[in-house]
Order: sequence, then structure tokens, then C-alpha cells
Amino acid sequence: MGTAIKSLGVVGAGQMGCGIVQVSALAGYKVTVYDLSKERIEAGLATVNGNLARQVNNGKLSEEDRKAAMTRISGTTDINDLAPTDMVIEAATEDETVKRKIFAQICPVLKPEALLATNTSSLSITRLAAATDRPERFMGIHFMNPVPVMKLVELVRGIATDETTFATAKAFAQSLDKTITVAEDFPAFIVNRILLPMINEAIYTLYEGVGSVEAIDTAMRLGANHPMGPLQLADFIGLDTCLSIMQVLHDGLADSKYRPCPLLVKYVEAGWLGRKSGRGFYDYR
Ligand code: CAA
Repeated sequence: MGTAIKSLGVVGAGQMGCGIVQVSALAGYKVTVYDLSKERIEAGLATVNGNLARQVNNGKLSEEDRKAAMTRISGTTDINDLAPTDMVIEAATEDETVKRKIFAQICPVLKPEALLATNTSSLSITRLAAATDRPERFMGIHFMNPVPVMKLVELVRGIATDETTFATAKAFAQSLDKTITVAEDFPAFIVNRILLPMINEAIYTLYEGVGSVEAIDTAMRLGANHPMGPLQLADFIGLDTCLSIMQVLHDGLADSKYRPCPLLVKYVEAGWLGRKSGRGFYDYR
């Protein structure tokens, strides 16, 4: 592994948290994943096991390595179990209040020298860091979805992040076989600053009747060589997450070009959150 990190804590057993758990355990880290509900942890770890089993079936992973990776993972609903870890990555909902609450609970539990990172896709690292007891040992480590497939990790320093923290996070991400890119602490960093306005524009294109869902996605898949159409990608990311990133851009950059499309707002209000809720621009039921 070659980093100062030996054991890792992950907060949140959702899509992103479990992806981070999967790649870290495969790379040899001991990982403890914390969530509020036992059911969420069990479902998340079943997905990890399913992904690894698929890799075994495809001949990309040995059965021994799958077993070894799974034994390195433990799930818990007791925050005190994060105490021995060298670094915790928070991958909870993209909601600043929720994240602040988590930091307030975790900080007293962690070793003083432990690093704390957030997988936030848009929020200010400096502001989140200020809600912890360790701004110099805090930074953004932003994985892309699906974590096991996407090569990129965006690293974002807050104003107080020290160089040791940055170097450790960089070595950690590289030990997972990820390519890093460094972004400054501006709303939504690099990937989402560019990607989300494109998705929002696709939703406006639908809202204004320029094309159907299928027409828009086909146009961008075949006309711009995107692996997924923007509406399919929005469903994949989660429409609530898309909306919250647009709101961060709109509030943080104070420019009307980032105004969330009213149709996106309406879908989220209806509980149509994309794949995870069974319905978004497509129907998954
Ligand atoms: N978890 C783990 N592995 C997955 C996966 C998942 N959710 N989905 C697909 N895979 C794996 C498959 O097992 C398969 O692996 P093998 O090659 O080893 O068999 C491989 O990925 C390719 O999958 P498929 O052939 O089934 O499907 P595909 O070729 O259509 O690829 C995709 C699926 C990789 C998701 C592709 O459609 C894609 O790249 N989509 C765009 C994803 C993207 O843009 N992500 C960024 C989102 S933005 C973000 O993450 C930032 C944020 O903060 C919001």
C-alpha cells in the first residue's frame, strides 16, 4: 500500500461509500464502514460482494482475493468503532447539515493524528473543515460513480489543509490505482462544475420540448460519444444530488446560468430521484 494509512473508516454505506469500501479493501486496507442502519450496511456490503463475485466469474479476480477483501471489511452502527482508523472518509448525503453533524460526532472519537476527508461533490472544503477539530488534517477526496470503474479522484485542499495531509491523501488515492486531479476549493470543483450544468441544460432541453428523453440521450451518446446520455446519467447520479450540486453552484457563484431547471426541482419534489427510487427520467420499476 505504501501510505501512512493502514486502516480506513468510511461513513455512509450508500453508492459512493460502498464503492470506496470495495476499492480500498481490494487494495489491502482494513475498512470499517459506519452507517446508522444495519439494513443499509448489509445491503451495501451485499453489493460489494456481488461486484467482487462478478469479477471472479469474469476471471478478473481470484476467489482467494475476493475472500481476503471481504474479510478486511467490517460494518458497524457504533461510531466508536472508527476510533482505531488512520483516516475516515465521509460519504454521507450531499447535505451540509448532515455532514456537520457527522463531523461533530466523529471528531471526539478519532485519534488526534487521524485524517478526516469528505467525498463531497460540491461543498466548500474550507467551510466543512472549520466544522471539525482538525482543519489542517481535513481535505476533499472526491471519487466518481461508479467508484470501482471510474479512474479519477479529485483532490481538494481547504485553506488550512497541510502538505502532509495532501501527500497522504494523494498516495492513498494512487494506491487504489486511481489517477488524481487537483482542484481548488471552488463550488463543485472541476468535474461537477462542468458536468452538472451540462446535465441541467439537458433537462432544460427536455423542459422546453426540444427533444424527448430518448432523443436527448441518443443525441449525446452518439453525437458526442458520451457513454451515457445526460438524462440517464442524471438518474444514475441521483436527481437529488444533481439538484443539490446545482444549488451549490447557483448560490456559490451567484450567476443565473446555474439556475436549476424547474423540471429537475419538480422531479425531486415528487420523490422521483432516479435509479435509486425506481423512477426518474426513466422508469426502473
Ligand atoms: N459498480 C461496479 N462496477 C460496475 C458498475 C457499478 N455500479 N457498473 C458497471 N460496472 C462495471 C461492470 O461490471 C463492467 O466490468 P467488467 O468490464 O469488469 O465486466 C464495466 O463496469 C462495464 O460495465 P457494463 O459493460 O455493464 O456497462 P457499460 O459499458 O455501459 O459501462 C458505466 C457502465 C461504466 C457506468 C458507463 O456507462 C459510464 O462510464 N457511464 C458514465 C459514468 C459517469 O460519467 N460517472 C461520473 C458521474 S459524476 C460523478 O460521479 C461525480 C459526482 O460527484 C456526481
